[in-house]
Amino acid sequence: MAVGVFDSGLGGLTVLDAVTRALPDVPFVYYGDNANAPYGVRDSDDIYALTTRGVERLFDAGCDLVILACNTASAAALRRMQESWVPPGKRVLGVFVPLIESLTERQWGDNSPPREVRAKHVALFATPATVRSRAFQRELAFRAIGVDVEGQSCGGVVDAIEEGDMILAEALVRSHVDALLRKMPEPDAAVLGCTHYPLVEDVFRAALGPKVDVYSQPDLVAASLADYLGRRPEMAGASGETAFLTTGDSRRVSDQATRFLRRKIAFVQA
Ligand code: DGL
Repeated sequence: MAVGVFDSGLGGLTVLDAVTRALPDVPFVYYGDNANAPYGVRDSDDIYALTTRGVERLFDAGCDLVILACNTASAAALRRMQESWVPPGKRVLGVFVPLIESLTERQWGDNSPPREVRAKHVALFATPATVRSRAFQRELAFRAIGVDVEGQSCGGVVDAIEEGDMILAEALVRSHVDALLRKMPEPDAAVLGCTHYPLVEDVFRAALGPKVDVYSQPDLVAASLADYLGRRPEMAGASGETAFLTTGDSRRVSDQATRFLRRKIAFVQA
């Protein structure tokens, strides 16, 4: 038994890295659906079908708890999965809520009514499917009032990262930040709402300038998972082995993952 970490491809490795550092004794099984990435240009039925297939594979690998380390899957599929698909005894958690709790200055499980928060103008950088879903605005509205959110669909960034073309990824990030700043000239906070984006976080930060608070998910998700496992230690699965599964070409994916995480990662076929 281990904790599952699901992503459409390599982006969830940014979350895996953070959760491994925060919880060094917990075994994780990572599933990257590299053969079907990117998800951000797919419709929600398609994202739901692919996500449930991947999560099922993680259940089969012995995971009782799966983290959807993918905003696109969290935005387009998680609610439907939690309402009608997740079997008893299993748990699937997304990556949106920890980020929004941090942005709205809340502790886990604080269900008090929405209130005013420091951030007033928030830039959301995410995939087209995540921006279209408006899941971020919905979750935010439960917790905060008076926050203006401007979404920027960052088309092409995930494809470039999956292809290993970081020069293209960086150029696209700069042009998406420019486009956002034309719509919202003075954001006070920016959310990197895709787990691939921490791999180009420096470029986002440089393009946004020092006045913008940048919210990046991996450490927030790790802190929230540590908190959850403190309350539900039986979901941690202390007896399993860490493993990396991919639907893509395992050699190629291993090489890219090793480059991104700067340590040897060996994927096997999912
Ligand atoms: N990294 C994922 C996310 O957080 C998915 C990107 C994609 O496959 O388009 O949204």
